[in-house]
Amino acid sequence: MAGNNVVLRVEGISKVYDREVLHIEKLSFEKGKIYGLIGPSGAGKSTLLRLINFLEPPTAGRIFFKGRELDVRGRVDLKTQRGMTMVFQKPVLFKTSVRENVAYGLRARGLPKEEINKRVAVLLEKVGLESFAGRRADSLSGGEAQRIALARAIAFDPGVLLLDEPTANLDPHNIEMFENLILNLNKEKGITVIMVTHNIFQARRIAHEVLFFYEGHIIEKGPAQKIFSSPEDPRTRAFVEGRMVY
Ligand SMILES: Nc1ncnc2c1ncn2[C@@H]1O[C@H](COP(=O)(O)OP(=O)(O)O)[C@@H](O)[C@H]1O
Ligand SMILES: [Mg+2]
Repeated sequence: MAGNNVVLRVEGISKVYDREVLHIEKLSFEKGKIYGLIGPSGAGKSTLLRLINFLEPPTAGRIFFKGRELDVRGRVDLKTQRGMTMVFQKPVLFKTSVRENVAYGLRARGLPKEEINKRVAVLLEKVGLESFAGRRADSLSGGEAQRIALARAIAFDPGVLLLDEPTANLDPHNIEMFENLILNLNKEKGITVIMVTHNIFQARRIAHEVLFFYEGHIIEKGPAQKIFSSPEDPRTRAFVEGRMVY
């Protein structure tokens, strides 16, 4: 049953390319929680994020955002699109200034200039890069670029943040900084975070709930503490103990 706290729900979702790479009967995400999606490479984690974020349609199944069914094969309405945003492993930035990169979506929405400037300043401060506004985005380090991608992603106060291995290319210092930003956003704004990570230690550090993916299925799901200390499925156990690494 879908409780009131459910922000996102998928039902009977399947994705078939040359074969079925993802199949989930029922899955829901609650408001304000951080979810860590783990599992071997090729298990279907990124595919789930792409389906949720309308980057491609599922072969079958339904997706509900805040109780409303999404038209996964038709036009994506802007309000829903702004309600969920994604940050990828490799930051996708325009070769313009940092300020322009963060302002882009706000400008597209037609906000007045002063309002845009004000919001951009707040967003840059939030990610600790207020002094970088005039810098060219392609001159940033990987960690800085990823924080800008995050600032841009949260410009519309999304309810759900989708992260696909956002720290895979970062050094430990920048990983910690990025994780702290995510934790703060979650705490301050109650933003729901769905993060794919290849790093089980990262899931352990920041996720409330962990989902273990294996060959297109979610084998196990539960509180992080439980998944890491006493997983029920032998495959989950092998994975969290580092005995099954692909
Ligand atoms: N566009 C595509 N065409 C064909 N196969 C794909 C495509 N995208 C992903 N796959 C396959 O789907 C499976 C799941 O991929 P993915 O969701 O990226 O896994 P993960 O993120 O867990 O590593 C993999 O076997 C991958 O090769
Ligand atoms: Mg992936």
